[in-house]
Amino acid sequence: MQFFLDSTDLEEIKRLNSLGIIDGLTTNPSLIYKSKTPFKLLIKKLCDEILGPVSVETVAENSKQMIKEGIKLSKMAKNIVVKLPMTWEGLKACRELSMIDIKINITLCFSTSQALLAAKAGATYVSPFIGRLDDENIDGIELIRQIKKIYNNYSYSTKILAASIRTKNHVTQSALAGADVATIPPKVFSTLISHNQTDRGLEIFNSDWAKSGQKIL
Ligand code: E4P
Repeated sequence: MQFFLDSTDLEEIKRLNSLGIIDGLTTNPSLIYKSKTPFKLLIKKLCDEILGPVSVETVAENSKQMIKEGIKLSKMAKNIVVKLPMTWEGLKACRELSMIDIKINITLCFSTSQALLAAKAGATYVSPFIGRLDDENIDGIELIRQIKKIYNNYSYSTKILAASIRTKNHVTQSALAGADVATIPPKVFSTLISHNQTDRGLEIFNSDWAKSGQKIL
């Protein structure tokens, strides 16, 4: 499974990227608003830091404008993935931009029929929003499972990018359901490693080692 960060917080992104296990990044207009940084400068900094795919969203409402925005975004850096909304106009733009080799992430996916449409339109990624479905008492992980089954049935190459991840459990359940990628907010990412038995075990090993009086170096 690939791990993307879902963030525009450059400090946090740098800190976590130094671990060497971050495969890409996703942004959205709300995260960009939160960063309070000029858009082009921010995208440049993000794409310089993360070498893998960086999703940046268009904001136009019709396909013609989306295509223009998509082309402009794709020229900002080699690793840009253009994020388009799950609308008929978004799908139209997805088809056109995919045909000129621009990678597309279809965002705001909440159903299997939408995921099918994204695959048909040639999207590189589709982003089912697990957390926002859970907010409505609908099982977001089940959606990932069903999309995986459908994509396997027809050998679609569109990758399932589990988004709107709120908990560590969302990450493991997405992996079990077969998501190709999980895009994870830094706060959730930091919890992936924690286990009280790990902390406790390390404490015991360190204390026993100290008592042994031995040295490695
Ligand atoms: C995905 O690309 C989105 O940026 C993101 O996962 C949305 O998550 P939210 O529901 O926590 O805003």
